[in-house]
Amino acid sequence: MARIIKKEVLAEGIKRIEVLAPDIAKKAMPGQFVVLRIDEKGERIPLTIAEKSSEKGTISLIFQEVGKTTKKLGALGEGEGILNLAGPLGKPSEIKRYGTVVVIGGGVGTAVVYPVADALKKAGNKIVSILGARSKNFLILEEELKEISDEFFLTTDDGSLGEKGFVSDVLKRLIGRKEKIDLVITAGPLVMMKVITQITKPEHLRTRVSLNPIMVDGTGMCGSCRVRIGNESKFVCVDGPEFDGDEVDFDILIARSKLFSAQEQLVLNRKL
Ligand SMILES: Cc1cc2nc3c(=O)[nH]c(=O)nc-3n(C[C@H](O)[C@H](O)[C@H](O)COP(=O)(O)OP(=O)(O)OC[C@H]3O[C@@H](n4cnc5c(N)ncnc54)[C@H](O)[C@@H]3O)c2cc1C
Ligand code: FES
Repeated sequence: MARIIKKEVLAEGIKRIEVLAPDIAKKAMPGQFVVLRIDEKGERIPLTIAEKSSEKGTISLIFQEVGKTTKKLGALGEGEGILNLAGPLGKPSEIKRYGTVVVIGGGVGTAVVYPVADALKKAGNKIVSILGARSKNFLILEEELKEISDEFFLTTDDGSLGEKGFVSDVLKRLIGRKEKIDLVITAGPLVMMKVITQITKPEHLRTRVSLNPIMVDGTGMCGSCRVRIGNESKFVCVDGPEFDGDEVDFDILIARSKLFSAQEQLVLNRKL
């Protein structure tokens, strides 16, 4: 049982919990995630390790309440526990000095990209961040990302804060400046990552995307997180979650992520 020692609301339906998990905190690297199960009847869901403290023996998870399990998790209070927490899982992000890195976080994807951006900054990279959300009520980690960024841009779809529009509009503008960009990293909705790779591919800009397919075991055994990367099938839980964006078949991935929509709706309508 992993105990929740702190809980905060970051934005509408988005929460951060700090969980006591000393073994995971000791080993976790940026880009890795955990698979958790709240109770005996619960399903397994993956969440990125947004922060960790080896000293305190804790990890932080930031999640959006989108369905049954994330809503149940959001309903837990400080002092309550999560039955199973497995991790750290997935390959750590490759952290080295690239030069100028454009970091793009869409919605709760910002929680996925932030620890990687922080590590890249510490490795000596120039960080240009683009943070986007549907509206100001769904923005997270704005101050944290600003703090580690050499340049910072903010967009909301409805214009309620920052620039009205999409993160991809800012990216196009940055490319138009003709300043060297050595790497683009992004996490967010699949459609957003697909659009970003459609922009960067013709420019030959190396782009790393963090994928979020449906996962069950998180250890390469069940096959539910299978994706098409170039001419190969890969499992996101063990081969990823980060991949070269140019090679990802987003259409298959988007179709697969909707496979269980009817069942998800059904369980959500049942009592928590
Ligand atoms: C490696 C990885 C890291 C992730 N990190 C974060 C994070 O840091 N914060 C965050 O808010 N979300 C993250 N997600 C997505 C998160 O796992 C889903 O939002 C969650 O599983 C939804 O479960 P639910 O029961 O609340 O919703 P459901 O109603 O069951 O599903 C809502 C939607 O969530 C997705 N989903 C459902 N079950 C799973 C599953 N077992 N695995 C993956 N996706 C699923 C599907 O697209 C589905 O349509 C991550 C996903 C992956 C693969
Ligand atoms: S989650 Fe089962 S193989 Fe990846």
